[in-house]
Amino acid sequence: MKIKQMNEEPSMRSARHASKPADFTSVTVELGEKSYPIRIGENLLARAGTMISELLPDAKCVIISDENVAGLHLATLENSLDGENIDHAKIIVAPGEASKSFEVYQNVVGQILDTRFERNDVVIGFGGGVVGDLAGFAAATVRRGMNFVQIPTSLLAQVDSSVGGKTGINAPHGKNLIGAFLQPRLVIADTTLLKTLSLREFRAGYAEMIKYGLIDRPEFFYSLEKNWQQIFSFGDELIEAIATSCRAKAEIVALDEFEKGCRALLNLGHTFGHALEAATGYDANRLVHGEGVAIGTVLAHEFSNRMNLCDADSVERVKDHFGKVGLPTAMSDIPGSLPRAEKLLEYIAQDKKVRRGELTFILTKGLGKSYIANNVTASEIQAFLKEKL
Ligand SMILES: NC(=O)c1ccc[n+]([C@@H]2O[C@H](COP(=O)([O-])OP(=O)(O)OC[C@H]3O[C@@H](n4cnc5c(N)ncnc54)[C@H](O)[C@@H]3O)[C@@H](O)[C@H]2O)c1
Ligand SMILES: [Zn+2]
Repeated sequence: MKIKQMNEEPSMRSARHASKPADFTSVTVELGEKSYPIRIGENLLARAGTMISELLPDAKCVIISDENVAGLHLATLENSLDGENIDHAKIIVAPGEASKSFEVYQNVVGQILDTRFERNDVVIGFGGGVVGDLAGFAAATVRRGMNFVQIPTSLLAQVDSSVGGKTGINAPHGKNLIGAFLQPRLVIADTTLLKTLSLREFRAGYAEMIKYGLIDRPEFFYSLEKNWQQIFSFGDELIEAIATSCRAKAEIVALDEFEKGCRALLNLGHTFGHALEAATGYDANRLVHGEGVAIGTVLAHEFSNRMNLCDADSVERVKDHFGKVGLPTAMSDIPGSLPRAEKLLEYIAQDKKVRRGELTFILTKGLGKSYIANNVTASEIQAFLKEKL
């Protein structure tokens, strides 16, 4: 593998590393004292023990994972921790969004307390976004905050959910309504783990990569158009694209950690996407998050075109690329029937990005020219949805 080092981490200048060049790409999330590295590369899981013991000597680790990921990859992580004599425990939850619930959270927190591990010990979130969000929220709340390390195993988690410190669970009222901000101390993104991910889940993560290009990195979008096949076949382009995605998210998070302003840009395609997820009852057989983002991003471009903000060629180009990789691009691509436009609008209004009756949408003036629009009216959206359904 080629050696690609971007933002050099201070620790890597130490004598210990002087004779051993890092064979991973590193992106730093710059948040002052809370800054942390995201390490991206092949076969990094076997080195997790070393990385954690260098960062947090003598800490014990409680691994939180789901049954799918644990069945495939837990032994490698446990061996790696054993190799450094790190005391560890494990908590395995059922796979799927249903594990981001009060009940599962209560159970996980209880099991962490049973270990008698302390605040300076480590919670490792080892799985996709569901596990990362759940483990992070447990880490944020047990003993008012334990150390947290993310080892994301889905593409979506490697490019999005493991970066930026949002953690949480779902309420009966809606998704991600209970949570906390807790930045991890370290993120280890081992791209080899993605080889066991289903093509559908891989595509869903890829939709978030496209999103970063369309927010404000048109050149990244063009490179995805050119290199998507190498990315899907695990070429070096995959590591580069994950790193670019993490850098894109890290830059926005560094500017606006608590989503008071520009971090909302990361929601491109998500207002429509979340409404579609809610309208399909969060049934993964019908729609997974990344597919909702793909359709939502196309809709955001189409709506921008309707408002005379974005040219038709750009809309076609966006649609074409999502479609080429096998992602859905229209509401009619979702199996089963959808509610009427009025009901979809209700789901949109329930979304947290509504302020004083006005809808906040991420709209675009062209490829990679997204911006936050605070004054979109409900009637415009409803008329648009009616047309598209
Ligand atoms: N915190 C954030 O900033 C943020 C951002 C985006 C999404 N999210 C959250 O992330 C969640 C979605 O994450 P996701 O798409 O990773 O879903 P997920 O965690 O449910 O993972 C998808 C499926 O892939 C399986 N899986 C994961 N890694 C695997 C591997 N290496 N090999 C085989 N199977 C594997 C899982 O067991 C699961 O069945 C949602 O709950 C969403 O709200 C959070
Ligand atoms: Zn998303």
